[in-house]
Amino acid sequence: MSFTRSIKIAPSILSADFANFGAEIRAIEAEGCDWVHVDVMDGHFVPNLTFGPPLCAAIRPHIKTVMDVHLMISPVDPYIDAFAQAGADVLTAHLEAGPHIHRTLQAIRGAGCKAGLALNPGTGIDAVEHLLDMVDLICVMTVNPGFGGQKFIHSQIDKVKRLRAMIGDRPIHIEIDGGITTQTAPLMAAAGADVLVAGSAVFKGGSVDNPGVYGENIRAIRRAAEAATGAMA
Ligand code: DX5
Ligand code: ZN
Repeated sequence: MSFTRSIKIAPSILSADFANFGAEIRAIEAEGCDWVHVDVMDGHFVPNLTFGPPLCAAIRPHIKTVMDVHLMISPVDPYIDAFAQAGADVLTAHLEAGPHIHRTLQAIRGAGCKAGLALNPGTGIDAVEHLLDMVDLICVMTVNPGFGGQKFIHSQIDKVKRLRAMIGDRPIHIEIDGGITTQTAPLMAAAGADVLVAGSAVFKGGSVDNPGVYGENIRAIRRAAEAATGAMA
């Protein structure tokens, strides 16, 4: 996983067919996605339940790109090793998930994963300053975590701009997660985000029997984002 700030599209499998994850992942990768985003929810930190380490281990052999695991769980620390062993490349914990995020990020790197730090929409960026040498990715939530298909929260654009300035030349990705479409992706790419998570906007209208639609959706989001950064589409 070499570092680059080029735009990366990370479909969230929360919007995939849960009975067919292997085929869904093979389809989105064949259609050009860059990372695969896995939303882990515990029914406690967020009001929804999804999946745990066994599911991550089961889908791992189908992922040829990057397995990006977003932990919406509290506590985090007791589960880090299990998700690392399940094959997570990036393991992202929420700043709000407990009092010792510094220790959590250390443990994630210690387990051999890239360390991600997620911020809820209501959380400021002051605390991030003291964690910059411990993170490989900062995930700015552009919806309140828990569900796919929610509306993008525009106040997060300014947060991404300020984070981008704070990061400077450090090799830290800015990921945005929630409500990303061809309309909202360019706003965030211009603000400095490079990893765009999209669930509904990638999977809408397609299926494993009609995967070309996934490719059209991925390319449309990428084109819109790259146009906003001045990169070649
Ligand atoms: C929200 C999840 C997101 C979500 C994105 O809690 O972290 O990854 O699935 O879905 P869309 O793109 O549909 O907002
Ligand atoms: Zn997510």
